[in-house]
Amino acid sequence: MRTIDEMRPFSRQRPPQEAKPVEAAATGARLDPTPATQGRSPERSYYTGRNLASARTVEDLRRMAHRRLPAFAAEYLEGGAEEEATLARNRAALASYRLTPRALVDVSRRDQSVSIFGRAMPLPFAIAPTGLNGLFWRKADVLLARAAAQAGIPFIQSTMSNDPMEEVAAVPGVRHWWQLYVFGPRKIREALIARAESAQSEALVVTVDAQFYGDREWEQRRFAHPGRLTVGSVFDAALHPRWALTTLSGGMPRFANAIDYVPEDRRRFFDSAFWIRANMDPALDWAEIARLRALWPRKFLIKGILNPADVERAADVGADGVVLSNHGGRQLDWTVSGLDSLPEARRRAGDRMTLIVDGGVRRGTDVLKCLALGADAVLLGRAALYGLAAAGRSGVERAIDILREEIDRDLGLLGAPSVKDLNPQFLTR
Ligand SMILES: Cc1cc2nc3c(=O)[nH]c(=O)nc-3n(C[C@H](O)[C@H](O)[C@H](O)COP(=O)(O)O)c2cc1C
Repeated sequence: MRTIDEMRPFSRQRPPQEAKPVEAAATGARLDPTPATQGRSPERSYYTGRNLASARTVEDLRRMAHRRLPAFAAEYLEGGAEEEATLARNRAALASYRLTPRALVDVSRRDQSVSIFGRAMPLPFAIAPTGLNGLFWRKADVLLARAAAQAGIPFIQSTMSNDPMEEVAAVPGVRHWWQLYVFGPRKIREALIARAESAQSEALVVTVDAQFYGDREWEQRRFAHPGRLTVGSVFDAALHPRWALTTLSGGMPRFANAIDYVPEDRRRFFDSAFWIRANMDPALDWAEIARLRALWPRKFLIKGILNPADVERAADVGADGVVLSNHGGRQLDWTVSGLDSLPEARRRAGDRMTLIVDGGVRRGTDVLKCLALGADAVLLGRAALYGLAAAGRSGVERAIDILREEIDRDLGLLGAPSVKDLNPQFLTR
């Protein structure tokens, strides 16, 4: 018997040609109305069923995820801060570059492998740190790590993750990087760093753009009071039993790595999140980063840099790399995107720093643009989460496969046999 999903596998949402450009940019969908359709003809819709093989693009995975998730969880996944101008900028910055292919190049072999910190990775992207993945699937951090390990790419685990660091780092074959939020008294950051060292994490990624919590207004509107969903949101969640079954069957997610540092009377789920938010250290500065660098024996990255002058500063304190990022548009509104800063950051960093960029990457062509502008690799934030929220581990694997296939085809079409051949001359602004 066919399930309801199989009978209705295509979204009846507004077709893309009717999307307003700014709205589309804010949500991460295609930026321009397409000239391929006239009015509603031919009628088009993204896939929203359950057959992963039918998801042709990351955008299909996104629609599948939206169908499965209650609205408050989809809002947490998608939302940006305030007017979402930063969120929109991430897609718009990518869209501001056009590709200028070279003709008649032998592309019978294509190579998208890169080397990060002296180790080869078969794909030029890694999975970004994202907190509260347990809202999308049970044991989500372990599943993301397994998918990353299978693909041979790093998984960056967030301080606000829901599975224990030691369990995630022990996933066979994973390149485990630990993302540190600096909160509370110093002994907390030091304890987390010591744990990451014992867990054999390859790199420490200190996020520095979140000492205040960006105001994701649309997410807040799903809550009647801090920590309490509106009646409408609770009702909506009750209408998503498939989500509840695959996500909450083991109980509410908990901040498995941060909770021990939260005062005992503040350890209930929302309350613990608020406590950590309220205790982010606003005094975090370069001197403290230098101190953390000295505590950590392996590769050290700073995530959330946008000003190229800070890239030089990062090199001066001994960082091995930076992630040029605006936190997926979730923190300060009206910033540039990491991509906007990349050319100047590369000019200043030369070869002495690993530069990773993120924000709005949904397509193989997005990845190629970042690499052509000087990035060593890119991070997938929502792209991986769409796969996760659509179908768990196999959804993440599908997202990775889609991007691998797109990058491979795009290299061939671009006339660049290897990502190492990419440079700004492949781009026109
Ligand atoms: C749901 C969600 C949670 C996030 N949580 C964290 C986090 O805990 N730590 C962090 O450094 N960045 C976090 N980020 C930012 C991502 O690491 C990354 O910078 C961003 O998602 C990249 O943009 P993209 O989603 O458009 O790919 C989060 C992003 C999202 C979407």
